[in-house]
Amino acid sequence: MSAGPNIVIRPAQSDDAAAATTLVRRSIAELCQADHHNMAPIIEGMLINKTQDNISAWIATPGSYFFVAEVGPILAGVGALTGDGEITLLYVAPDFRYQGVSKALIVTLENKARELGLPTCALVSTDTAQRFFAARGYAGYDKDEDDFGMDATSMTKTL
Ligand SMILES: CC(C)(COP(=O)(O)OP(=O)(O)OC[C@H]1O[C@@H](n2cnc3c(N)ncnc32)[C@H](O)[C@@H]1OP(=O)(O)O)[C@@H](O)C(=O)NCCC(=O)NCCS
Repeated sequence: MSAGPNIVIRPAQSDDAAAATTLVRRSIAELCQADHHNMAPIIEGMLINKTQDNISAWIATPGSYFFVAEVGPILAGVGALTGDGEITLLYVAPDFRYQGVSKALIVTLENKARELGLPTCALVSTDTAQRFFAARGYAGYDKDEDDFGMDATSMTKTL
């Protein structure tokens, strides 16, 4: 599967888990300042379930779809979709920000959802990514504070 001249999207494999974990954790710590404001307890809360064990388990979960984006040999992004249309992960490596990685991943996730016959995709957005999702057709319908005191916006898109 190819998306653009340099970005290649493919299903994740078990041996992607270590690099995917590093990527997700760096993406949260370094890119999501609008959410955590560099406050250690909030960063910890955002990272708490982003362990290599969990990411390995998510890659292996039957009926869910975990993709990686590569630029050459380098892991540049990850995205995951559940079988009922929830986008649970969408993270870009800081070095590849604003180079089309998340756009390529979300198109792949939405195409997978369409292939599954699903009418919508849903997600819970960080403040950091809200403008990105809005520009891709997602609309927010709620603003909740999560367990760690962080705002999280539920968004959906009709496919
Ligand atoms: C915001 C973010 C999701 C964008 O992803 P990306 O891979 O860096 O960017 P892409 O090149 O794929 O997409 C660019 C789009 O992002 C949006 N965007 C938001 N802020 C932007 C900025 N300062 N500069 C450029 N694009 C920006 C625009 O919609 C842009 O679309 P356009 O090119 O049609 O105008 C990403 O940089 C980010 O911060 N991720 C942090 C992790 C996160 O919060 N993930 C979501 C979990 S719910």
